Amino acid sequence: MKVIVAGATGFLGRHLCKELTSRQHDVRAIVRPGSKVASLPANVEVTTLPTWSAGALGQAIGQADVLVDLVGLQGGEDIPAAAIRDGNFEVTARLISGAVGRVGRFVLVSSVRVYGVRHTQPISEETPRRPNTEYGRAKALAEDLVQSELGEDSAVLRLSEVFGPGDQRSMMCRLLRLVQRGMVFWPGSGDNLVHPCYLDDAISGIALAVDRQDVTGPYIIAGLEAASMRTVVELAAHVLSVAPPRWFIPTKVVRLGALFGRRLRSFGFPFPFTVSQADTLCDHRSYDLSRSRARLGYVPSVSLSDGLRRTVAAEAGAREQGSRL
Ligand SMILES: NC(=O)c1ccc[n+]([C@@H]2O[C@H](COP(=O)([O-])OP(=O)(O)OC[C@H]3O[C@@H](n4cnc5c(N)ncnc54)[C@H](OP(=O)(O)O)[C@@H]3O)[C@@H](O)[C@H]2O)c1
Repeated sequence: MKVIVAGATGFLGRHLCKELTSRQHDVRAIVRPGSKVASLPANVEVTTLPTWSAGALGQAIGQADVLVDLVGLQGGEDIPAAAIRDGNFEVTARLISGAVGRVGRFVLVSSVRVYGVRHTQPISEETPRRPNTEYGRAKALAEDLVQSELGEDSAVLRLSEVFGPGDQRSMMCRLLRLVQRGMVFWPGSGDNLVHPCYLDDAISGIALAVDRQDVTGPYIIAGLEAASMRTVVELAAHVLSVAPPRWFIPTKVVRLGALFGRRLRSFGFPFPFTVSQADTLCDHRSYDLSRSRARLGYVPSVSLSDGLRRTVAAEAGAREQGSRL
């Protein structure tokens, strides 16, 4: 199949391109000038587009079987709302305009952040979306637009936090850094469930949505298992061979601190974490994968401990290689 990937040069995009070419698809990446195309496999065709208007995108897209939209701008409250909306909704809106009538199917890579916080667990595709961040709101708008413009010819993947080698930003990446630093206090009770997804599983979920012409609607893509934050922190400490945090700060205190910190930040004073980071650390997030398993054929296979081990080993390998160069 002819597959177009937008957002191909990101953390997930470059791995997806590799996976799709290994499945014998003709892959073309649409990138902006300055994107790191060296990270893409040699057999991926690259179209560099200086202006991402709907018209220019339409021409660049041409005709294709599938378009995968991985464009996104993730970040917390420190990134202007307009930039978050542009990176997660406006670009997608222009991609959709360019794709209508030219591509067979549109696969939007969205996020579980569309759900917001404080839901009954586990969260499923039927759980009402209540995004509580600019990022979540922009993703929800993008989902609605894909659904209204392309309907049955589209699929939406709601990814949980993806972690793995090369990840510089996810909750798990930050968690590993904090644990490695030897944190004695951990923000949050540690009892909340979290359900991250190892990179290989996320890529297999997206590749399935490309291959399966009959799947439509939203699918949650999360890892093999949910675990308490305390378990994840202890696993991370074990993999890193450091002592785990000794004290867990009650969630209420963390949330109040984050709200106080928001006021301080508004006056220009630094504070170590934002309200959404406090939510990320303290809220329950576990996902029901029944729909993805049954209809998409998605079967996550990498356990949390294995994923953490692979991530830490790859980072250590990369550091060693860097020091040898
Ligand atoms: N990683 C996760 O844990 C996770 C979880 C849930 C959902 N998602 C979603 O999955 C998608 C891929 O995530 P990722 O982690 O691979 O993100 P990433 O590493 O930040 O990559 C983002 C990609 O989008 C492109 N991009 C960003 N803003 C753009 C713009 N205004 N115009 C054109 N291209 C733009 C970037 O191009 P450049 O290379 O030129 O910067 C890059 O190729 C995103 O939509 C993200 O929201 C990710």
